Amino acid sequence: MRKPYIAANWKMTKTIEETEEFIRSFIPLVKDINDVDILIAPPFTALSAASSLLKDTNIKLGAQNMYFEENGAYTGEISPRMLLSAGCSTVIIGHSERRQYFQETDEIVNKKIKLARANNLEVILCIGESLEEREANKTFEVLENQLAGSLKDLSLDEITIAYEPIWAIGTGKTASKEQANEAHTCVREWLRKNKDGADDVRIQYGGSVKPDNVVELMSQPEVDGALVGGASLEAESFSKIVAGAVKK
Ligand code: PGA
Repeated sequence: MRKPYIAANWKMTKTIEETEEFIRSFIPLVKDINDVDILIAPPFTALSAASSLLKDTNIKLGAQNMYFEENGAYTGEISPRMLLSAGCSTVIIGHSERRQYFQETDEIVNKKIKLARANNLEVILCIGESLEEREANKTFEVLENQLAGSLKDLSLDEITIAYEPIWAIGTGKTASKEQANEAHTCVREWLRKNKDGADDVRIQYGGSVKPDNVVELMSQPEVDGALVGGASLEAESFSKIVAGAVKK
């Protein structure tokens, strides 16, 4: 069975002090939950401070992005080695906000994943359709194209897929459990057809996940976890999501 995996994507919120405050209250709330993998992805500036507090806990640290070159003259960018030295085990790649506001294409996403894996960082790859694409019945086609482009020439080792329909992100409009499971099934089938080890890959759902809808979403056979934005910003609320992710 795939172990449930809940990740917090804090986006551009929380200073170092706010990160420390969250982590101090969050650790005791989840310390006895061993059946769920837990990850927090603060902004770059808070990674190092977060890493010190998370040492010897059951909570992993991730970054929200990285660049696709090892080092050099790329003002403002962050390399995988920098993430490792800041204490990250994982990096989120291809979030729809990166694709929308920072022109990240599947090709760029593919380059980033390759370099992350070459440096032994685990990856959460985000994919998902827009509302127009869903309404035009193009959801599966969009997901398959994103998978093909993002995972070109890559194995599935240490890769998690986050299915995040863009229309559900930060809108309070969650996909129904059936919609989530159907999209995850499409992802799983594509992985089975094109890669080895597809059945071990965890597929997270993301888009307005909250304490009161996580159990329902996790009841679906193809939903292995969640990538959580808004509801991960408060320790109590995020701990309830983690507790609700334990598979019954
Ligand atoms: P949300 O964000 O939970 O606030 O909808 C999810 C995400 O963007 O990863």
